[in-house]
Amino acid sequence: MGNTVAEHDAIALEPLLAKVYRDSGHDFREYKHGTIMRRLERRLHATGVRTYWAYMKFLDAHPEEYQRLADDLTIKVSSFFRSPYTFQQVAKLVLPELVACKRKQIERSLRFWSTGCARGEEPYSIAIMLAEFLGHRLPDLDISIHATDISRHALKEAWAGVYSPKDTEGLPSAILEGYFTGSGEGYEVTTGIRQMVGFSYFDLASTTKPPFLNLDCIFCCNVLIYLQKTLQERVLNMLYDSLTTPGYLVLGEVETPTSSLREKLECLDAKAKIYKKNGRG
Ligand SMILES: C[S@@+](CC[C@H](N)C(=O)[O-])C[C@H]1O[C@@H](n2cnc3c(N)ncnc32)[C@H](O)[C@@H]1O
Repeated sequence: MGNTVAEHDAIALEPLLAKVYRDSGHDFREYKHGTIMRRLERRLHATGVRTYWAYMKFLDAHPEEYQRLADDLTIKVSSFFRSPYTFQQVAKLVLPELVACKRKQIERSLRFWSTGCARGEEPYSIAIMLAEFLGHRLPDLDISIHATDISRHALKEAWAGVYSPKDTEGLPSAILEGYFTGSGEGYEVTTGIRQMVGFSYFDLASTTKPPFLNLDCIFCCNVLIYLQKTLQERVLNMLYDSLTTPGYLVLGEVETPTSSLREKLECLDAKAKIYKKNGRG
């Protein structure tokens, strides 16, 4: 009986995801179905329905459920300097080259994109890394870090920039004291760091047209793992088009470029997942 329900639901998954896309614009059709089905269980449980067909009816009667569903289908786990080795290697391999290149071109702007920024930990870590690297030279450059996500809830928290002691517990005290204010109850990111970051809604699955162009460095960490190969390929091609030359792409620890992009990107550090667009492809 359990199996029958599971099989029945697997068949109903595609119509359910098509309905969600049609009615709300949230496009999870090309996410990995296993993860989606595990996350859907939570909504079924929360709404008290037993099958995807019943859930579709529930959505019709309760349209406010679409946003809750979108929030539950996305995994927003993150942390400051989530992969320390990656940040260390970006500071070592990317930033010196990038800053030298800007200086040579007499160019002031430095443009980053954090593509699935969750509650802001990643873009603020990028800003702190830049502040640490540039030191007194920070005002010499116009830094913009675009930070986007599809979770409006996460974006709101990211914009507020206030974190609990648990959120900040791994941070060295020099970083905590240098770039956060407050103590005990919560830590707020300083104005200097916040000013570098701009948050907005952007769905990576929604288009092949890049929302930003001429970017110097893109962090696309721990988002691709949830997507099917075809969508991974489309997203990566869009990110490639967003980059200037030279431009740098940073992926999550378990993510790699799809085969067509691998030929166009130079791998700077396979463990840190740092790739460079040289413009030869
Ligand atoms: C696991 S978190 C990763 C956060 C951060 N990049 C990191 O590595 O710590 C994945 C984030 O990607 C976002 N996300 C998932 N699908 C997305 C899409 N199609 N477009 C933009 N963001 C997406 C989720 O809302 C979530 O905040």
